[in-house]
Amino acid sequence: MTYVVTGATGPFGRLAIQSLLRRGVPAGQIRGLGRQLDKAADLGVEIRHVEYEDPESLRHAFEGASRVLFVSGSEVGRRAEQHANVVAALVEAGVELVAYTSILNAPASAMALAEEHRATEKVLTESGLRTVFLRNGWYYEVYTAQLATYLEHGVAGAAGDGLISAAARADYAEAAAVALTGEAEQDVYELAAEVFTLATLAEEVAKASGQPVEYVPLTPERYREVLIANGLPEGIADFVVDIDRGIAAGSLETTSEDLAKLLGRPPVTLREALAQ
Ligand SMILES: NC(=O)c1ccc[n+]([C@@H]2O[C@H](COP(=O)([O-])OP(=O)(O)OC[C@H]3O[C@@H](n4cnc5c(N)ncnc54)[C@H](OP(=O)(O)O)[C@@H]3O)[C@@H](O)[C@H]2O)c1
Repeated sequence: MTYVVTGATGPFGRLAIQSLLRRGVPAGQIRGLGRQLDKAADLGVEIRHVEYEDPESLRHAFEGASRVLFVSGSEVGRRAEQHANVVAALVEAGVELVAYTSILNAPASAMALAEEHRATEKVLTESGLRTVFLRNGWYYEVYTAQLATYLEHGVAGAAGDGLISAAARADYAEAAAVALTGEAEQDVYELAAEVFTLATLAEEVAKASGQPVEYVPLTPERYREVLIANGLPEGIADFVVDIDRGIAAGSLETTSEDLAKLLGRPPVTLREALAQ
């Protein structure tokens, strides 16, 4: 059995490989893929170079692979094509199972970000491969990375009272390792630990820090202006505003308990993540 994890040079793939090792998969049966190989050199497993736009590298990367954790790539706008190349290589390699990290509510999501995930799910479904869709909600880390800004300026955004379903990246990665190693009971998992609004997030940051933290609700137009005034290129600002519009429209809402079920324990809470 050879387990292959794409994106092994990023935090998610790294955590997933560490989970596989903790779950008793021998290091010799794990292969990680990425471009900046030095970032994964300390993992103690084989790391191969792959470039999603290079079919030859894909062929070499998936040679002999049995089960593959396909961590979505990070080059937004180029991923539909890149992911289709990955799927073609998975078919050629004849892999037994592919678990793909998709987005929460992929089929119905109003976010532009969901389009590439929908396209990838479609290609995977049409490939005939046995697939598991791990539809991840937001990472808490998207927010905890901004704590300094929150403490200085409050939590600003255009998500209104929209619900955000999120979890710790490490919990999503562990769930991915469980799905990859076990006999996955479902083909689709909608994954999140907690559901909160930006207003609740501000309250929780205030509690964790002992400092007052305000929620500053903005219109999408005003949020765009603020982002651009703070140095974001227009295209990125549009992308960020579109995410909040999607949250306001309910694209990140779920009541699913799939994450706790896969983990076999309660997932890390937002409060615990903020405390860390
Ligand atoms: N749900 C959320 O809140 C959320 C937040 C952020 C990201 N994500 C998604 O989750 C994924 C994993 O998260 P992460 O934090 O580990 O992201 P990340 O640090 O951006 O890692 C992306 C990984 O994909 C690899 N990659 C990207 N483009 C590639 C290409 N063309 N060919 C080969 N490899 C390529 C990168 O390789 P190199 O580093 O070696 O170049 C890296 O290993 C992201 O890619 C994104 O799709 C979700």
